[in-house]
This record gives sequence, C-alpha cells and structure tokens, in this order.
Amino acid sequence: MAFDIDLIKKVYEQLPGKVEAARKLLGRPLTLAEKTLYSHVHDALTTAYSRGKDYVNFSPDRVAMQDATAQMALLQFSTCGRSKVAVPSTVHCDHLIQAKVGAKEDLATAVDVNKEVYDFLGSISDKYGIGFWRAGAGIIHQVVLENYAFPGGMMIGTDSHTPNAGGLGMIAIGVGGADAVDVMAGLPWELKMPKLIGVKLTGKMSGWTSAKDIILKVAGILTVKGGTGAIVEYFGEGAESLSCTGKATICNMGAEIGATCSMFAYDPKMAEYLKGTSRADVAELADKVKDSLRSDIEVYNDPHIFYDQLIEINLSELEPYVNGPFTPDLATPISEMAAAVKEHGWPDAVEVALIGSCTNSSYEDISRSAFIAKNAMAKGLSCKSEFNITPGSELVRFTIARDGMLDTFDQMGGVVMANACGPCIGQWARHVADPAKKNTIVTSFNRNFAKRNDGLSSTHAFVASPEIVTAFAIAGSLSFNPLKDTLKNAAGEDVMLDEPQGYEMPPRGYEVEDAGYTAPAEDGSKVQVVVKADSSRLQLLEPFAAWDGNDMLGLKLLIKAFGKCTTDHISMAGPWLKFRGHLDNISNNMLIGALNAFNMEPNKVKNQLDGSYGEVPAVQRAYKAVGIGSIVVGDENYGEGSSREHAAMEPRHLGVKVILVKSFARIHETNLKKQGMLGITFADKADYDKIQEDDVLDIVGLKTFAEGVPLTVVLHHADGSHESFQVNHTYNQQQIEWFIAGGALNVIRRNVAN
Ligand code: F3S
Repeated sequence: MAFDIDLIKKVYEQLPGKVEAARKLLGRPLTLAEKTLYSHVHDALTTAYSRGKDYVNFSPDRVAMQDATAQMALLQFSTCGRSKVAVPSTVHCDHLIQAKVGAKEDLATAVDVNKEVYDFLGSISDKYGIGFWRAGAGIIHQVVLENYAFPGGMMIGTDSHTPNAGGLGMIAIGVGGADAVDVMAGLPWELKMPKLIGVKLTGKMSGWTSAKDIILKVAGILTVKGGTGAIVEYFGEGAESLSCTGKATICNMGAEIGATCSMFAYDPKMAEYLKGTSRADVAELADKVKDSLRSDIEVYNDPHIFYDQLIEINLSELEPYVNGPFTPDLATPISEMAAAVKEHGWPDAVEVALIGSCTNSSYEDISRSAFIAKNAMAKGLSCKSEFNITPGSELVRFTIARDGMLDTFDQMGGVVMANACGPCIGQWARHVADPAKKNTIVTSFNRNFAKRNDGLSSTHAFVASPEIVTAFAIAGSLSFNPLKDTLKNAAGEDVMLDEPQGYEMPPRGYEVEDAGYTAPAEDGSKVQVVVKADSSRLQLLEPFAAWDGNDMLGLKLLIKAFGKCTTDHISMAGPWLKFRGHLDNISNNMLIGALNAFNMEPNKVKNQLDGSYGEVPAVQRAYKAVGIGSIVVGDENYGEGSSREHAAMEPRHLGVKVILVKSFARIHETNLKKQGMLGITFADKADYDKIQEDDVLDIVGLKTFAEGVPLTVVLHHADGSHESFQVNHTYNQQQIEWFIAGGALNVIRRNVAN
C-alpha cells in the first residue's frame, strides 16, 4: 500500500558499494547489522565506529508513528517550519480503541469518542505528506511488516516494538517523537553505535514450540536489561527455518530485553512473505543484492569474534515457555510451570486468555491456534477461560475470517476484538467482580508489567505463544502442560489436545476489501489542521525555556522511586491515553505508578513546602507554582518499556529539572535529552541510599558541562548536614547543545529558520 519502490531501488543500487566500502574500512568481514548500519551512515564513510561508544548520524529510510505518540510528534513537527516530511512516513490509529464488547461496536465507539484526535491526525498527515492508516486498519507493526518493511532498510518508529520489522531484515528502532521529528525534518538521526549480540539458532522446532518460545527463552537468558544498547542478530540454520512472521515476533519482543533492535538476514521465507503481500518487485530487487542482505560471518563460520556476546539455542530441544508474572524475563519452561505455580502461589485458574496483538497475530499464529481450538471441540472440549482474539491488521482479519478461523473461535466462545492494541495497552474494559482478587490472565502479547493490561495490580499477567495461550484457554489452568496432560471432555473421557499445525502463508493468499489506508494530498498547503483552544485532548506546544546558564541549586526531592520504574509507572497508559495530545492534562499522571522508597506507596510523596503528603503531580505543581525546581531519583533501568516521550515531557513541563538514577533505559534517556532535561546516573550506585526524604539537592558543574566530564551532586539534609558525590552522564556535544537550548526542537527550529 503506497510503499515507495523507487526508494527501495535507490537503497539497493547503492547497497553493495557501501557494504564494500565498510568492509574495507573495518578491514574484516561484516555482520548483517554492520552492513545495514554502515550503509545508512549520514556522512561520508571515513570512520570505523567504536561499538557502544561512538555516536553516529544515520539517515533512516522511513518513519512510522502510532496514534498515541503521533499526536505529540506531529504537534512538535508542525512547529519546525517544514511544509512536508523529508522521508516517507505513516500514522497508524491503533492505540486509542478500547476493547469492550467486540470489534464492530468497539470500533464505532472509538471513531466517535476519538473523533477530534483522528481528525487532527488525518488532517495533519494530509498536510505534511504522511500516509494515514485509519482506526480499524490494524496495529502499526503488523501494518508496517505487511506494507513497508524491506530487507536492508532502516526505519524509526515512535513505538518501542518498532523492531518487529526486523522480521523482514530491516533495522527498525523505537524512538521518541522528537527523534521522529528530526528525521521527518530531513536531519540526520543520532544513535550510539550499537553493540552486537549474536544468537545462533541450530536445529528445528516441532510440536508445541513456536517462534515466540525463542524470544521467551532469550528474555530469560538476557533479562530485561541484557540487550541494552545492542542489536540482536539471529542466524544459523534454525533462523532459516522460521517463517517471516515468526522472525517478526522474535524481533518485536527484543524490546523486552531492552535491545536497540533485532534482525534476521534476508532468506527465501522473507521473499515468500514479500511476494504474498503484493511485493514481488521488492523480493526481485532484494534477490539481486542478497549478499549485502546477509552476514559475512556465515561464510567465515566463526561468529564469536564478531559479536560482543554470543548465545546458542538448539531449537530441536526448545520447549514452550511461559513468562511472568509482572516481568517478561521470568521464563519458566512449560514442563516446570505446574511446580512454579504451586511454589509461587500464582493463581492457577486462567480467567482470561488473549491471543493476537502486534506480536502474534500472523496468519501462521492464528491458523495454529484455530487448529487447536477446532480439534479440541471435535473431541468434546470447550473453553474454560474467557478467550479474546485481537487481529493485528485488517489484511489478516479479512483473510482469517474468509478461511473460517474466526468462526472456529466464535464456536468456542471466543470474542474477536478490533484490529488494535486494546488489552495490550490497558485499553480494555475488563469485567471483574472483585478488582482486588488475585487473578491470572495469559496473553500472546509482549509486555506484562503490573496493571499493563487491565489497570489492576491484582492481575498476574503471563506471556506465552498463541498456541499455549489457546491451550490454557481450553484447560482453564496455568498448570496445564499440553505436551503431556489430558483434559476431561464432555463425555468424561480423558483426551489430549492435538499438536498445533498451521500455515505460514494463507494457501489461498491474503485478501482484503478495504485495508484502511488514506494517501496524503499531493499539495497539502491548503489543508487546515484544527486544534481547538478549549480542547481537553489536544494542546498546541510552547517551546521549553532554554537553560539559564547556572548550576541547579536548591532542587527539592520530588520522589525517590523504588525498584521497577517503567514508562508505564512514569506516564501510565490505559485511561490516560486520551490525553496524549495534551501535555498539561496528561501531566496529571506523572509518576503516579512509581513506588515512593520512603513509604513504599505509589502516588504519595512529601511536599517539602508544608510537610503534607500528596499525589506526585499535585506536589510538583505546588513546587512549580512557587518557582522551585525539583529532582526525581530512580533505581535501575529507569524508563524501561515504551518509547512514549510523555514520560520525559511531563516532568519537563511541570518543572522537574533532573532525573538521577542508577541506570537508564535507552529510549527514555534519549527522550529526556531531547526535551532538554538533565538525566544523570550515580557514579557509585550505593549513593542512592544517601538520598533522604527531606533532601534538597544541588547539581554542580554545569557551567563546564562537557562530554565525559562527571558532575557533582550536593545533598543538603534536613538536619543541616551536607554530603556530595559524583554523578555521570552520557551527553555528547550535540546533546549538550540541546540541553543548553532547552530541547532539541529549539535547535531544529533555529536551524530551519536559518
Ligand atoms: Fe500495540 Fe501492544 Fe503492540 S500496545 S503496538 S499491541 S505492544
């Protein structure tokens, strides 16, 4: 749908030459990631970059934005002075559709409730030359995979699961909206040269194991931080055996290990998918440059020397995994699940089983789940749990409906939700009798932080393959192991579920009547974009103030967050999604999910002005009202999870000056820098313990703020004592410029104006 074949031709024309130049420059064979990265370096290729150290300017080929982040990205873009985007870009309306009754009704409600936002996104896309995917068209990553991803390409997307496109051999990276603005404005996009993690897949999967289990196992090995700053490259005979959409599932969930992105080399499975999704011309072009779309190391056969870390997984021995609850890296093989359920006291009854989402709603996934469901019903079994299906795109939905799979789910009591994010992002009107009751849900989604799906801290969310989720739905029990356990059917007989079988590609091909795409106007200059002054959902942006040139003195401690503090804790989704285009309104959710280390309660912090306790946004607004800056202190991997820049813009808007943590998640750290915030880390993590509830802090050394030079924090305790310690930062020269200007957008505005 409107993919740019000329752009792909141009990339492929230049690719072999650029790869050869990079090979010469590095003086050795290259991995696939290196070929793709070096062929997208913005400036002339003269430097062999140091991985994990050097910042590099890249020229991505595309930008994709989902509706919840596109609002802020495009509000920013509209202030930068350009009349059209510089690279092909798309907007996808997927996050704002609440799952409540079923696809048709929920979509109609969303179109009504979100009219103002959809009209805004549609008209601003039209104006600036951006492709627009309407509500109901599908989830951003599935739509990108079906239409835009291409081997050897590079894209950025304002969603953390953008790496899904790695399933088609693309370097696809999740970013904040301000990064998207850079690229849409025609500026280079900066990234620290990623490290490389190799995952060698040997053997071949069979039975109940599927691609999802590879990434669930990898998450267990690497943990939620293990991929930080790295590209994960999968290779080996096992990689070749996976369908293109299976590869995409693995790359999608690379976000759960913090990876910059993940990717697979171009192979016949990708060619088959391209042909099956009306892009035979792309496959033909890719075939001509296929050596540049694969790693050299397979030729040299000694991967160790090329990667910073190497993992090997034998797919012949891999069993299904169930990950969770509350974190995607707590990986339990299915054979050990029953014991783990007992040991941890996890609720055994599966109340709701959900398949689909951007991660796992391919034709292959759905056909395998439908196979299980159909055969189970033939054996006299039915569904014990509630069962929801969220197709990833209209193309998939139409095709699986045509092929009878939705009827199968319907017969089993399944409910098909809209082609949208829905329950994956808290857009789920779940009906529960007692919200406080500990309960279990299982999804084939990717993320399972507390409250993520239904807003309830009592919900234990587990992640597994669609096949295993379907089996759990039928068994109604988290302890059920379909590889060996039997179930009682209606006649009282003990029966087993059949091993799943399915189709990688639809035997009768994909089909769709209306995919849900609207092309932009050729000339958008006359298109009006309306933002009402009294709107509660959209608000035009004012530039943030530049740095005042002084050290930051007398900052009140707003909150010392304890433990996991993801972007969901910092800027909750669910009911708050509706305010994603209104900075002041959404700021009322700032850090309301974070645990205060001094009372271990969420959203209850001390107001140092009067000693009272209040909600985090309210206390911060009190500081702002009297012109006092504040500081947020956090733990490890602060800001993990989503790419939402609201998590950086809200503190900036409300007057927080500094975020001081043990460590940052990559996208969030960049988002803070882009918004002109100061994000710093403890040089000695033990200094976190020195921060007391009534502390006032100074940040010293800003007048000589420079790359690689630490800053100093001075703590003023309430008893009158002082102590100081060193803090580190990762700002390079350009990022320091953003800090000084009050944000990257102020720098862009200046540059476009000049
Ligand atoms: Fe949407 Fe969940 Fe994917 S929010 S983009 S379905 S991770």
